[in-house]
This record gives sequence, structure tokens and C-alpha cells, in this order.
Amino acid sequence: MKAIIATWPFGLKAVESGWRILKNGGSALDAVEASIREIENDFSNRSVGLGGYPNIAGFIELDAAIMDGSTFRAGSVAAVRNVQNPISLARKVMENTPHVMIVGEGATKLAKIFGLYVEKVDLQPEARMEWERRLKAALSAPQQEGSINFWMKMVAEGRYNHDTIGCVAIDDNKNIVAGCSTSGYAFKLVGRVGDSPIIGSGLYANSFGGAAATGLGENIMVHNVSRKVVDFIEHGLPADEAAEKTVQYLLKIGKRIDHISFVSLDKDGLFGAGTTEESFEFAAMSDVFSEPRLLKVEKGARLRL
Ligand code: GLY
Repeated sequence: MKAIIATWPFGLKAVESGWRILKNGGSALDAVEASIREIENDFSNRSVGLGGYPNIAGFIELDAAIMDGSTFRAGSVAAVRNVQNPISLARKVMENTPHVMIVGEGATKLAKIFGLYVEKVDLQPEARMEWERRLKAALSAPQQEGSINFWMKMVAEGRYNHDTIGCVAIDDNKNIVAGCSTSGYAFKLVGRVGDSPIIGSGLYANSFGGAAATGLGENIMVHNVSRKVVDFIEHGLPADEAAEKTVQYLLKIGKRIDHISFVSLDKDGLFGAGTTEESFEFAAMSDVFSEPRLLKVEKGARLRL
């Protein structure tokens, strides 16, 4: 059964785009890339792509990754600048290099080689205003620019802006692919990397299932959330139960668990999602739905369709 799932209400546009590919016999790899590009190309989004909030120095640094569950191939880019579609660059890393992860300047150089480099990047007016406002507030505090306190004041304020587009799809050939893309933690330190480009944390896929996470990267990465979900699927649970079990596991640990949400999908095309927040909304489409749907899961509960 073909199916596709993506994080947040903005995932609806992503799912619509990916579904067009899946329903015409296209691959899960193409569907996930297209879905994520759709959100990266929306400059009104402040947590994905070049419309996102910048880092502390006023530059947008993006993270993205893609993983093909049938081959275990994966590609990832982190802290990359001047790229509109980091998910496509991640796919280039996967398909055209012997590596899995390329960061910073090296990733920007690859973007030039693959024609994905954008010469001029202007912050969106609202993102620039917000960055300048926070910079002014931090500067007016009794400490010197460049001191660790100044940095920490800027960084603390961005903690809750991290709505990654995460997407998982399964195609007619039962290939499962997971991907994600984000501008990350708003006003982060230069070079900060979140969970999204880390295989096993922000995303994971194998022949049993796939998962993609969103939320506070610092928390998602210490728990390897996506790998955890897929482990439960691999051990026989359907995607919804695997998601529920993962959240129960996190709640039991009880440390570094705020702002963690994720979507999951299994080899039978069944959906799951989980959150440590009060609730979490996401979008999904499959052969059994007549149109893409927005769905919601409550904290610690199993998804009810
Ligand atoms: N989950 C996205 C990030 O923290 O960068």
C-alpha cells in the first residue's frame, strides 16, 4: 500500500506534492524529496529553508537528510549556507559521493558543483526584524558582545522555534524513505547542528518502517528518537503502537524529553505519530484515504484515525 506522512499542518502541502508522485507510480525517494522541497520553497516558513530565522550572526544555516530504507543509503548536509533546497543536496551526497554527511563550507562547495548554490540570500523582512530586535535586547543587557552571556541570552530565546519538515513515504515497490529539513533552532550559535541531519535521530528508514522527528534537536538527538521508533516496528509493532511505545519510553526516562514529536510509517502502509507535548498535528495520505488529511495525536496516546 502506498502512503506518505509529514510533520505539522504545513505537511499537508508536502503530502499533496509527494502523493502526486506516488499515485503515478513514482518512487518514495522522489516523493519525499518533492514533498520537502515544497516546504523549503515556501519563504513564509520560519523554521525550514531560506525563509527561516538566522543564526546568532544573522546567517541562515540549514540541515537536511534523506535515507532510503531498502538500500540503507543515506545523505545528509548540516550547517550549510546559500542553498534553497538542502534536501536535494542531501540526495546528491547520497547518490554522487561515497559519504553520508557533509557539513558547512564543504556542503556549500558541493552545492556549487551540483547547481544548488544561491549567490544572494536575503533574510525575509520579518526574520530580519526579529533577529535585530533580539540582538538589540541582548546588547542592551549588562554584558559585552562576544561574551558567553551575550550569546546565551540570544540563544535561549530561540529555543522553541524548530518545526522541521519530516516526511516518510512507502511506494508500490515497498521501498520506505524518510527525510527531513530545517533551519533549526532560531538564533542558534554559528555551526549548531540539530537532530535533522543525524541518521537515527531526525530520521531513519529500513525495510520494516521509517520515522522522522521534529522539535528540540538537542533532546531528540540524545534519545535517537527515529531509530527507537523503527526498532519497535522491526520487532513487530505496527507504526501507531511503535510510536505510542516510544513516547511511553521517553516519558518513563523523563529527562530531556520536552518538545519531541515524530511521524512513523510501517511496511504495510500504516501510520503512527507521537509527541511529548500536549498534542501534535501532522498530515497523511494513503491508498485508503480519498484525500490528504490533517491528523492529531495526543501526548502519550496511540494515533486514532
Ligand atoms: N528539530 C530541528 C532542530 O532542532 O534543529
